[in-house]
Parts: sequence; structure tokens; C-alpha cells
Amino acid sequence: MISPQTIEQIKNRIDIIDVVGEYVKLKKRGANYLGLCPFHNEKTPSFTVSPAKELYKCFGCGKSGNTITFLMEHDKLSYVEALKWLATRYNIEIEETETSPEQKQQQLTADSLYIINNAAQKFFTEQLYQSEEGRNIARSYLQERGFRDPIIQKFQLGYNPSAKNILATHLIQQQFNKELLVKSGLVVIRNENELADNYRNRIIFPIHNNTGKVIGFGARVIGSADKAPKYINTPENEIYIKSKVLYGSYFARLAIDKADECLLVEGYTDVISLHQAGIENVVASGGTSLTVDQLRTIKKYTNNLTIIYDGDAAGIKAALRGLDMALEESLNVKLVLIPDKEDPDSYVNKVGAVVFNQFIAQNKKDFILFQLEVMLKEAGNDVGQKSNIVNQIAETLSKINKAEDFTRQQDYIKQCASLLKIDEAGLTNLVNKFKREKLAKEEKKLPFEDVKGTPHQPFADTSETSLDLLQQDEVHEKAVIRVLLEYGLKAWDEKKTMAEYIFEELEQFHFDNSDWEHIFSMYKTAFEYGEEPTTKSFLYHTDEKIRNLVITATLFPFELSQKWDEKIEGLNITNRDTAQEDVRMTINYFKLKKIKKMFEENQKDLETATSFEEQMKFIEIHRQLKEAERELTNRLGTVILK
Ligand code: CTP
Ligand code: MN
Repeated sequence: MISPQTIEQIKNRIDIIDVVGEYVKLKKRGANYLGLCPFHNEKTPSFTVSPAKELYKCFGCGKSGNTITFLMEHDKLSYVEALKWLATRYNIEIEETETSPEQKQQQLTADSLYIINNAAQKFFTEQLYQSEEGRNIARSYLQERGFRDPIIQKFQLGYNPSAKNILATHLIQQQFNKELLVKSGLVVIRNENELADNYRNRIIFPIHNNTGKVIGFGARVIGSADKAPKYINTPENEIYIKSKVLYGSYFARLAIDKADECLLVEGYTDVISLHQAGIENVVASGGTSLTVDQLRTIKKYTNNLTIIYDGDAAGIKAALRGLDMALEESLNVKLVLIPDKEDPDSYVNKVGAVVFNQFIAQNKKDFILFQLEVMLKEAGNDVGQKSNIVNQIAETLSKINKAEDFTRQQDYIKQCASLLKIDEAGLTNLVNKFKREKLAKEEKKLPFEDVKGTPHQPFADTSETSLDLLQQDEVHEKAVIRVLLEYGLKAWDEKKTMAEYIFEELEQFHFDNSDWEHIFSMYKTAFEYGEEPTTKSFLYHTDEKIRNLVITATLFPFELSQKWDEKIEGLNITNRDTAQEDVRMTINYFKLKKIKKMFEENQKDLETATSFEEQMKFIEIHRQLKEAERELTNRLGTVILK
């Protein structure tokens, strides 16, 4: 673990222009820098970097973050790797913190398991090629299935002989600890204390992690599996975590990157056969439904996922189970069903690589539309079922939730509405309803004080698009957050800071948007605890949602900031560039907007008032609001607000 002091030191040294500038050609534009976004294809630059705030945001695709997340995203580094990268760049010596005894023990166990697996893999390979049994039974079986030597060696396939404990004996001779051997799943305890090989008489498929180390094995019976299970897999242990395993990812990484597409199949043999046919951008899920961790691994390399499953009902069901999750991770999902009871392995062996590739290209279906077609076929003319389908598809579409996917979502709404023969606007409304419900649910899950961050929770849309739909007042609330973060610690007068001024002024007011409310109260709490919150302290917050909100609040596209400047220019306010003026104006706009809203509400109350006393009360409120409005408008100059 890198010590907090070192992390602090690194953060203090970070120069975002220097780091991002290494990858993106940046031009100065006002206070910010502008360049072509490295995360999506564009011809006119919308990738904006703010050196003062140490953040970037692309106004084209919506990607945003700090220097560390930039390195993580762009170079596919882990958090720790990104820190190390920066430490090297800035000549900062990394200080490691003490690990706890449990952590040490876990690390030791993990290290030993890697060594055991490595030794076992070598043994299995040796047995496959050198023992008579291996050659006659295992290698000939593999050959019969069309696996040639180069591919067998690339994937390090092997054989565990049929004798009771030949591997166990071999490993014990090498002084490996018995308990660890059991943990590795390679051996089991039989008859009290005797070790026996777990994968006797099976073909061995080593499973590699992203750096090529063997983390576990799949062991297949030779021939058809009547009595025994077809595959035995490594049990969960310190290094084999089933939900994270993507078979073949180590061998597929470069090809996925190059093709900008990841093919997903079910089985070990599918991956290997496709590789042998020259199709290398392929990984396997291992026959279970996809997990979020697997999807995130894929997303590191590409946004385009093509699922290739058997065309039978089970295959389709399995594929559909991962769909909503994949959409939430904003992957573009396509589906190809392999015909005639074949699987990718048997099919590519039957028709060859050229035809296989053609088949994939021609039969790639959009996953959402495919799902809709399947459901519509099933429903027939049943009106009740059809209305269920409308709901289901709206919910699915509501999962396409990120800013950069907005157009994609609209396209889908159009296409689905037409397939369903329903009104497009109606479907849009329904989709938005599901979005709102989801947002509401997440707000409940994320209480105020939850500053700890929950990085794995899918976060609500923080972009303008959907929030604007829900909350038109948002810009005024966002502006308050902006000035608070930007000027909060500066002096308002001799007695108080800008932040204190803002708190005082807004005491009687509340935010309508819970995201901005959340940031506001986090700031206030931190401030009252004597901390000195700034944009930067929020920018490195562990919660991605918070980070993105802060970026949204503080960074504007170049054209927009120019327009803002012009607008202020038009107002003819002197000293407009001082921080104080910015704060004062922002607060007044905010209040005015809120007062207008209160007006409307009061007006309604007045209309529905039932007694004279009530009416008088609302008229008095009306008068006071009018007064407040007049005062604010005066302070703002003769601005007519819409
Ligand atoms: N699987 C498993 N345990 C089983 C059966 C299947 O773990 N008892 C997993 C394996 O990862 C397997 C995948 O599910 O690769 C797909 O299963 P299946 O299609 O039955 O096997 P194939 O990989 O196609 O193997 P083969 O072609 O040798 O029949
Ligand atoms: Mn198969």
C-alpha cells in the first residue's frame, strides 16, 4: 500500500497540462486548454483541460476526471499503477505503509498458489507430450478435435494422468504445503489423510489472469461425459475469483484493442478454436451469466461487445441475462446466434475462418432490438402481454444512462416505438419515468453523510441531459456550487469568508436538485469542521459521482464561457470580474429564481384558498415576495429574467 503521505505528495506535484499534454495536443483557450478528445473520435476539439482546477472534461463524449483517472482510463492503469507512474515522473520516492498481518498472510497464500499452479501447469504439459498415456489418450483426443500443437502450446493445455495421485506426489516432493495444495483445487483429501489428484484422466485448460499468470484450471473429461461432470473447475480461493474470470482475456487483449470489439463465447474450446482460426479478439464467460466485473474488464479495452452463443433457447436466455447490466456499463451489445446445434468451436471447424467471419458480420443483431423481436413474437396478439413488453423495453432503455449515450438512447426509442407501433413521445415519457424512479431510489441509498464513496454503485446521470428534463432550475443551483467551490475560502469582508456569506444568505432557501444539495451540505459540513474544502478536495473524492458533479459544476465548454462573459458584459456591471461580484450575482439569481417559484406556488394556494383568513395570509405572502423580488431585481440591475 502506498502511504497517504506519498499520495498527498504526488497530488501536490500533479501538473495536469504536463501529463495530459503528453497524450493530447493542447492549445490554450482563455483560462483552459483545448484539444482533440483521446476517448472518442472528433474533428473539432471539445476536450477541455483546466490547469487551475486540475480537471478535464470532454464536452463531446462527456468523459471527465482528474489526472489520476486520466491515466487510469487512457493507459488502462490501476489506481496504484497511475500513482506509481506519476511518482516516477516527478521523482517522488514511494513510501509503503505497513500491511496488516492478515493482509500479509493473504499475500503469502496468493503467492504460493501462483507458484503451485505454475508447477502443476508445467507438469500437465509434460504429461501431455511425454507420457505414453498422455500422448495416446489426451493428445490424440485434442488432435481429433482439430487442435494443433502451436495452439495447444499457446494456451498451455495439458493432461492429468489417471493414476490416483501422480500430481499430488510430484507436488509434495517439491515441498509444497498440503493445505495449500488442497486450496488450489489440484488435489483432494481421500480416506482420512491421503492426497489424491482431483483432475484424474482429464484434459487441463489453464486459466490465466490479465498478466498471463495461471490462476486456476478447467479440467475436461476425455470424450463424452456420461457419469462424471464434463468440467471440474478450480474452487474459489485467494487468486481464483470466479466472478472476475474471463477466460482468454490475456491472449485476446491486443486483438480486442485493435478490432475495437470483443467477441464473447461460452466455452474454453470456443476461444481456442477461434484463436486457431485467426480470430483472436475473443473471451469466454465460462457458461455462467455475465458479471459486472467481467463487463468492466471488457470495457477497459472496447465499448463493443458481440455475444456469440448457441442458437438454442438456453443460449438466448443466458445471453439476455447480461443485457441490462451491459447497458448500464454503456457497452454496445450485439448478438450472433450460431445455427444448427453448433457452437462457435464446432462451427468454425466446420466452415473455416472466412465463412465464420462472414457469418458473424452478416448475422450480427442489435441486442435490444433482438430482444424486442423475440418478445413480440412470443406475445402474438395478446394486448396484455404487449403492454408488459412496452414497460420492459422502456426499463431496458432507461438503463442507457450516461451522457455520452443520449443520442443512442433516442435512436433506440425511435426504432422500438416503430416496432411496437406506439407513439415515440409516449415511449420517451415512459423511459424518463423509469430513469426518475431509479434516481429516486439511488438518492435513498446515498445518505448525506455518505462521504466514503461507493465506487461500484452504478451512479445516476450527472449530465445536463436527463437532469435538465427533471429539474429546470438546476443551472442556478449549479452556479451556487461553482462559486462556493471557487471562492468559498476567500474573504467576503473583514469578518467573514465568501462561504460564510453564502451560507447566511441561503439559510432560508433550499435546493431542489438533490445532487447539488448533497454537494452543498458536504461542503458546509467540511467547512464547519474546520477543513478548507476546494474544487480539488472534491475532485479526488472516492465517489465517482461526486467527482463528476463537481466537474459539471465548475467547467464549462469554451463557447459557453464566452457567451457567459458576453452576457455579463451586456449587463454593464462594473467590477464584474471580481470574485465578490460573481458570488453576489450568483446568489441573487438563485434567490430570484426560487422566489419566482414561490410566487407560483403561492398563487396556486391563493386560488384554492377556502377562507378569508387564508386568502389574507397568501396575499400577505404575495406582498412580501413581491418586495423581495423588487429588491433583488434592483440589486441585479435592470435584468429581466426569464
Ligand atoms: N462448464 C463448466 N462446467 C460444466 C460444464 C460447462 O464449467 N460441467 C463451462 C466451461 O467453461 C465450458 C463452458 O461452460 O467451457 C461451456 O460449456 P459447454 O458448451 O458444455 O462446453 P464446451 O466448452 O463447448 O466444451 P466441448 O466443446 O469440449 O464440449
Ligand atoms: Mn463445444
